[in-house]
Amino acid sequence: MPLRVLLVGSGGREHALAWKLSQSPLLEKMWVAPGNPGTAQYAENLALAADDVDGIVQFAQANEISLVVIGPEDPLAMGLADQLSEVGIRAFGPNKEAAELEASKAFCKEILIRHRIPTAAYRVFSDLNPAVSYLESGARYPLVVKASGLAAGKGVYICEVLEEAREAVKSLLMDGRHGDAGRTILIEEFLEGPEASVFAMTDGRTIIPLESCQDHKQLLDGGHGPNTGGMGAISPNPLISERARELIERQILLPTVHGMNHEGRRFRGILFAGLKLTPAGPKVLEYNVRFGDPECQILMMRLQSDLLPLLMGSAQGELEEQDAPRWDERPAVTVVLASGGYPESYPKGLPITGLESLEQTPDLQVFHAGTSLSEEGDLQTSGGRVLAVTALGDTLSEARDRAYEAAEKIHFEGKTLRTDIGVAGVAAMERVQ
Ligand code: AMP
Ligand code: GLY
Repeated sequence: MPLRVLLVGSGGREHALAWKLSQSPLLEKMWVAPGNPGTAQYAENLALAADDVDGIVQFAQANEISLVVIGPEDPLAMGLADQLSEVGIRAFGPNKEAAELEASKAFCKEILIRHRIPTAAYRVFSDLNPAVSYLESGARYPLVVKASGLAAGKGVYICEVLEEAREAVKSLLMDGRHGDAGRTILIEEFLEGPEASVFAMTDGRTIIPLESCQDHKQLLDGGHGPNTGGMGAISPNPLISERARELIERQILLPTVHGMNHEGRRFRGILFAGLKLTPAGPKVLEYNVRFGDPECQILMMRLQSDLLPLLMGSAQGELEEQDAPRWDERPAVTVVLASGGYPESYPKGLPITGLESLEQTPDLQVFHAGTSLSEEGDLQTSGGRVLAVTALGDTLSEARDRAYEAAEKIHFEGKTLRTDIGVAGVAAMERVQ
């Protein structure tokens, strides 16, 4: 039966999902709430914000939507999947109780500890004085101060010395830097080692691990500067060996899904583990309950199977019946072009040129994130992360070259990008070979 899909979100992740879903022979029609000029190439964009839960539910009912695919964390944390399920509409993504794994880092830690899943040691605080006393009474540095709630990847402070930690704690608990999201904080052991993003699709029973990725979270080359939502990524992650993969599945992904079941919070959708590969083995930094952005862009480029039956299988609790996904063996790289000023404030409405003359192929796609059309219909910037230039190559180096060559041809005032996405990956590949 042809399927009518409503995709929720407006970032690079959602453009990549729309691009991939548009290739499904099972698709009848796709809408995106609200989408961006990229998604408009394959779907009808709606004037509905991603967090307009009532509006989305009403639209889905009125238009006999077969599956709502929820991209970002906010609508998941608000219970969009629950409300859709109440009116008999299938959703890809966890319900509100399961989405707490991302929405509350304090809850996530409890799950990890209760189910003996490796993670950094931590303490939780909601009051300033005990938090500061803890910092002053022999805590080991560096340490990490985090807002417990959703802060778009920006609520984490790596503190080298007491003074920095005190400032971070004060800005969260006293000055309300991240509003309610930072009213509860975690103070955490600093974990050494490279990072890895690991994704699994699940319906709460069957778990399908997806290909590994490596995000580049900091704004500047070499991992310097403030944390962002992600400035680029590569897949596969050359640091994850076959043995590490098995370990991650057995010690991390499976016990989490089973643990959530055990606690009456069956998890359906994408379980996204942010890991540190420490000398003592992989440890969980955090869980997210959705595809990563920009990791989704490279996963969609590498996924050869039809995405739609997998999403439907997860939503229906019938993932077991799906064949294991097939992947392009070739590596992929995505390079984010961000607005000048991101992740702090940045201008909007700046003209974007050069994109129309780029030839997009199955090996090179430029996914839109923070873009919009001006009144005259010209492409302009409208967000922090503007575009994700994504390429496949026979080698990681070739994928990198292809992505950067394209990235150079796109222009907007203040265009900001890292020049070293995948550089460490290429070096790691060479060591492995
Ligand atoms: P999170 O949102 O918890 O993934 O944190 C964002 C980023 O902060 C991570 O990707 C790491 O780069 C860094 N980070 C968070 N927690 C720790 C930790 N315990 N040790 C080292 N780095 C961390
Ligand atoms: N790129 C990391 C995230 O989506 O949270």
